[in-house]
Amino acid sequence: MATQKAIFITGAASGIGRAVAIFFAAKGWFVGIADVNETGMAQTAALLPSGASSTHVLDVRDRAAWDQALAAFTKASGGRLDVLFNNAGIARGGQFCDVSHADNDLLIDVNLKGVINGAEAGFSYLKANPGSCLLNTSSLAGMVAGPGLAVYAATKFGVRALTEALESEWAPHGIKVCSLMPSFIETPLLDENTSGSNRNVRQGVIEAGLEITPVDRVAEAAWAAIQGKKTHTMVGKTAEEVGFLINWAPWLVRRRLKRTGAIAK
Ligand code: NAI
Repeated sequence: MATQKAIFITGAASGIGRAVAIFFAAKGWFVGIADVNETGMAQTAALLPSGASSTHVLDVRDRAAWDQALAAFTKASGGRLDVLFNNAGIARGGQFCDVSHADNDLLIDVNLKGVINGAEAGFSYLKANPGSCLLNTSSLAGMVAGPGLAVYAATKFGVRALTEALESEWAPHGIKVCSLMPSFIETPLLDENTSGSNRNVRQGVIEAGLEITPVDRVAEAAWAAIQGKKTHTMVGKTAEEVGFLINWAPWLVRRRLKRTGAIAK
């Protein structure tokens, strides 16, 4: 087996996945860039040192494509898969009764089934690399479900549940399982309109007086998460504050949500 450590990243053509790819490559890791967006993948690869990555067209909804991508990746990485970063996701939202069936199905298929597919396909490779890690991207919405995000939050609660179950189930196999729970991160996802109005996520966050966290912070958090002991790593001021409150005074968060519809402030 090769000595260079290896990470496979879904959603690596953009945002958080790209930032994590750059960060790990700078630490000397071999990086698998996986996404449906080929142009974005090529842009990410161009930001990494020459020879430090392989690219894989992968729709996370497609189980057979997962098997092919991981087989090709481990061939390129000299047999290693130290971290599987199950990160690809989409944002859709609006008042529950107004969101289309198609959008809800897509959310569930990409954000939840796609992550389950990754865990299934990755298990045997992770098991073969003692000390490996499955890192899933959940969200603050995996801790607290606010209005307008019912199904998005349901998928992220699902990712949290998967993480917690596999954390104990896979520990005897030498595989660490943990998640990232970011609040609002500066990526193209913030340009999505999830409220059903004309406002995109970014405008909603700014109007609510909340912060937008630079994407590099998520890459640093991913690095810390794979080496630390936490099951869930909150990323961003709002995630840290609300994540703390939901553990110690959940009634306070829920009362605020019912009264104002806002998760913070
Ligand atoms: P992004 O939109 O910049 O990147 C998402 C990537 O996933 C894109 O490259 C897209 O092509 C890819 N993707 C979408 N569907 C796919 C599929 N079926 N198969 C493979 N790849 C697919 O968004 P961002 O912010 O980097 O999102 C990454 C993860 O972070 C998502 O799971 C998102 O839910 C989560 N997240 C993001 C937050 C934010 O404020 N940006 C906050 C909390 C969680």
